[in-house]
Amino acid sequence: MNVDGRHYRTIWTEGEGEDETLFIIDQTALPHEFRVKALRTVDDVCRAIRDMWVRGAGLIGAAAAWGVWVAARTAPEGDFAGFMARCMEALRLTRPTASNLAWALERQKKALAGRSGREAVLAAHAEAKAVADEDAEFCRRIGAHGLRLIEEAAAKHPGRPVNILTHCNAGWLAFVDYGSALSPVYAAFDAGIPVHVWVDETRPRNQGASLTAWELGMHGVPHDLIADNAGGHLMQHGMVDMVITGADRVTRCGDAANKIGTYLKALAAADNNVPFYVALPSSTFDFSLRDGVRDIPIEERNADEVRVMTGLADDGRVTSVRICPAGTSARNWAFDVTPARLIAGLITERGVCEASEQGILSLYPEHRND
Ligand code: MRU
Repeated sequence: MNVDGRHYRTIWTEGEGEDETLFIIDQTALPHEFRVKALRTVDDVCRAIRDMWVRGAGLIGAAAAWGVWVAARTAPEGDFAGFMARCMEALRLTRPTASNLAWALERQKKALAGRSGREAVLAAHAEAKAVADEDAEFCRRIGAHGLRLIEEAAAKHPGRPVNILTHCNAGWLAFVDYGSALSPVYAAFDAGIPVHVWVDETRPRNQGASLTAWELGMHGVPHDLIADNAGGHLMQHGMVDMVITGADRVTRCGDAANKIGTYLKALAAADNNVPFYVALPSSTFDFSLRDGVRDIPIEERNADEVRVMTGLADDGRVTSVRICPAGTSARNWAFDVTPARLIAGLITERGVCEASEQGILSLYPEHRND
């Protein structure tokens, strides 16, 4: 998508041969600074994922895939297989919830099977590029399918914008391009349908305030930032036509893990007959799981993310402040699970389906026996 008129993906390489280098947008600096970083070692890539320079399910997957290429080109000659296994394990351990990470590493493992040296480097490069290109293309298609839902909502309310509430950031910054939840919004906006987005701030890391508000602003999409707890009130007053969120892992029965607080929005939506959609590419399904509440691993992050907030001070410097008494104990679960029964539909690259095993398998029959 565009940043000040120039097209960017969230991860890319520049240069040729030995000089080819991996670059990312450092999302911890947004919205105050647009900073690009080079990742030269597998440790750089692990740090970028763990410390959330890159984040969001699709981008985590693409970063892991490119991380395997970075590892392959720095592997010692004597112990290629052992080195690569250790690097892949290090990448796998960076963050636990998004399925895309393990999915991308599995693709790379298959691509590298039986290969070493230069041949493996080329294979890892081709696979990383395929993962990234596919992520962008699948998100583009999610936009086309989700557009129809927004068109239907617009037809019901002629003369005013369609009000869409979203939580966290499932825009192009969370993927390689386009995004999942925001891709239909961009498609509708580009098609001339009046849309307006309610942007949940998304405590504790505020990805809604810092990332979603930024990318919607870059694209010119009308939006308002709201406090995390405002959504229920807006729904009670008819100010939300639909909710669209992303997902970090979705089970074969349609339970969806997404940023902490998503479940509460789904409950409020159900109570107010507001359709609650989850948008995801197929790389976010975990066909090995059925019960998301019981089985999806939920990342618990450093409690300082709850105790401390970071923002731009009046003197133009980015600064952090503690918002609770010194010594306050805090806990920081990063995700929660929305049960399938609260989800009106899943917007995927193959179309929109019911959030149920039957609905999902109707679009992905090849996973019937997984
Ligand atoms: O912790 P993050 O920022 O990596 O969390 C991921 C998210 O941004 C959301 O949960 C998002 O809605 C799903 S990722 C497309």
